[in-house]
Amino acid sequence: MSINGSGPLPSEGSKLIVMKQKLEYYKQIIDSRLDSLVPEAGRLEESMRYSLLAGGKRIRPVLTLEFARLCGGRVEDALDAACAVEMLHAYSLIHDDLPCMDNDELRRGRPTNHIVYGEWLALLAGDALQAEAFLCLLRSGLPAERKAGAAELLARAAGREGMCGGQYLDLDSESKTLTEAQLYELHGKKTGAVIAAACMMGAVCAGAGAEQVKAAEDYGKALGLAFQIRDDILDIESSSEVMGKPAGSDRKNQKSTFAFMYGLEKCKGLVAEYSEKALRILIDNFDDPGFLFWLTKELINRKS
Ligand code: IPE
Ligand code: IPE
Ligand code: MG
Ligand code: MG
Ligand code: MG
Repeated sequence: MSINGSGPLPSEGSKLIVMKQKLEYYKQIIDSRLDSLVPEAGRLEESMRYSLLAGGKRIRPVLTLEFARLCGGRVEDALDAACAVEMLHAYSLIHDDLPCMDNDELRRGRPTNHIVYGEWLALLAGDALQAEAFLCLLRSGLPAERKAGAAELLARAAGREGMCGGQYLDLDSESKTLTEAQLYELHGKKTGAVIAAACMMGAVCAGAGAEQVKAAEDYGKALGLAFQIRDDILDIESSSEVMGKPAGSDRKNQKSTFAFMYGLEKCKGLVAEYSEKALRILIDNFDDPGFLFWLTKELINRKS
């Protein structure tokens, strides 16, 4: 398998169809479980469902399912863990868009949660989604020690050492010039931590050994960096129509991003560097990494 290949060869056309079908299958089982996890009941649930079921690439839960499979487990056994990660992600997006944070009005091609439901309800929908994420995980049929392991990973990735810590740095760094080390810390925490946890949780659900869990973490961290740098590039290069979220949000908020620090060309090199690192980890550690290999390339070349 070539790391540097720019796309599928014609003879690989049928493999491409299989990859796309597999991604669609994963998304479909994730969406259907998410739909049942937050039933329609009242306006709070409506607000939660608005953000949870509004599309999105579903990359974090897909990573959880695929790592469970790669580590010899059953995809269905990791489905609640996958949904927990996506609920946590949905909460982080609702809060990220609030006026006190990035103050954005478009998400996944629709008005943001607080534009539709108002600020206090958006805040509560996010809070409730975070709690429901852990409820879903703790209620799953996994053996107790795997459940506890997955919950600990998600909690750490969500909290001060992970996403919230990274969001703190992101907001505290507006209008400031960071060092390279600070920028890596910011991105690693705000985006890399949850992506890495998604990968590790899949491995833990499958009962993987320490070596494979570590490989899942290393892959997730490398992909997370490539993914966020790509997001920073798109914020400058793409349009709101294509992304379904406001282009230029980072400049508006005077964010500290890789794109502003290094310029677009160097950033594209960094995306290539970290994605190659991620692909190398897959090749070195897993027997059947074809789908993730393809997905990694899709994500770093994505337009939205
Ligand atoms: C957006 O995440 C926030 C970032 C970490 C860049 P995604 O790009 O995965 O957003 P959705 O879930 O597909 O909408
Ligand atoms: C947000 O990063 C990462 C989160 C933890 C939600 P961004 O603020 O760059 O994400 P977008 O561009 O709004 O999706
Ligand atoms: Mg933000
Ligand atoms: Mg934002
Ligand atoms: Mg962004």
